[in-house]
Amino acid sequence: MRVLVTGGTSGQLYSELLRTCPDSLELLTTGSERLDITDSTAVQNVVSDLSPAYIINAAAYTAVDNAEDESNIDAAYAVNEHGVANLATAASAAGAGLIHVSTDFVFGDMPATPIRPDAPTDPVSVYGKSKLAGEQRLSTLMPNDALIVRTAWVYSSFGNNFVKTMLRLMNERDEVGVIADQVGSPTWAHGLAAALWRGVETKSTGIMHWTGAGVASWYDFAQAILEEGRHCGLIDNDRIFVNPLRTDQYPTPAARPSYSVLETSVTRAELGIKPVHWREELREMLRELT
Ligand SMILES: NC(=O)c1ccc[n+]([C@@H]2O[C@H](COP(=O)([O-])OP(=O)(O)OC[C@H]3O[C@@H](n4cnc5c(N)ncnc54)[C@H](OP(=O)(O)O)[C@@H]3O)[C@@H](O)[C@H]2O)c1
Repeated sequence: MRVLVTGGTSGQLYSELLRTCPDSLELLTTGSERLDITDSTAVQNVVSDLSPAYIINAAAYTAVDNAEDESNIDAAYAVNEHGVANLATAASAAGAGLIHVSTDFVFGDMPATPIRPDAPTDPVSVYGKSKLAGEQRLSTLMPNDALIVRTAWVYSSFGNNFVKTMLRLMNERDEVGVIADQVGSPTWAHGLAAALWRGVETKSTGIMHWTGAGVASWYDFAQAILEEGRHCGLIDNDRIFVNPLRTDQYPTPAARPSYSVLETSVTRAELGIKPVHWREELREMLRELT
């Protein structure tokens, strides 16, 4: 089966999808020139030329705080809504399946119980609203042949993310302040990529949730990065102290949900795989950086 992966080489998930593609599938990319998914003609041409049986969309506007700036709102929607609609239109015309990746940010303030895929959405940021708009366009254009996989707190040895930022700051400073009252499930893009490939193999459709197993605050995650980073020699700073902060002590342009734990039982049953605990995944990712 031929599978086209969208996104660019700077992308965390894109890079992990490229290195985890199962041997039984034929990976298609557009080479060093990435396919701009906001260009509907380019999308149609590439999909009709390559004629994939499946498309996995790893392309997104992910600058959550920048998206709040009036001048960037259109750019966020161009990729996260219209780009997704372009892929859905082209996939439908080619008879291809589509797996699209979405986010915990489609939810607002939720009770502290793992969030099911059918829970009511209520995004509180421009990024979250643009991602929800993409989900909705996809569900309308491909009601039966698309899979939406929502994930959260993604990191990888590729691209930029919280883990790499913490490693840098922990080597530079005596203290880092990290939010302790937002809770979620750190997710290694490597494990997410494996779940998406499984979604191709099982031809799953609908809306699913996938994250690393377990729950942590950003503070817990940072403390684990410190301990594991020291253990494997990536942090060489005895003075560093991780200071737990409340959300109101670290204001950001985009509001973030305080509880982001996604319920994965339906996905585990459908895909027949289990997520690895986030701390184990973190250890493995850090080993890659040594
Ligand atoms: N990162 C997280 O914590 C997180 C959390 C929840 C959900 N997600 C979702 O997970 C998915 C993967 O995220 P990620 O962490 O891998 O994001 P990422 O590292 O920021 O990568 C995004 C990718 O999208 C590409 N891209 C942007 N605009 C594009 C366009 N118009 N056409 C084609 N490609 C374009 C970028 O390429 P260029 O660099 O070349 O522009 C980049 O390769 C996204 O759907 C995201 O919304 C991420």
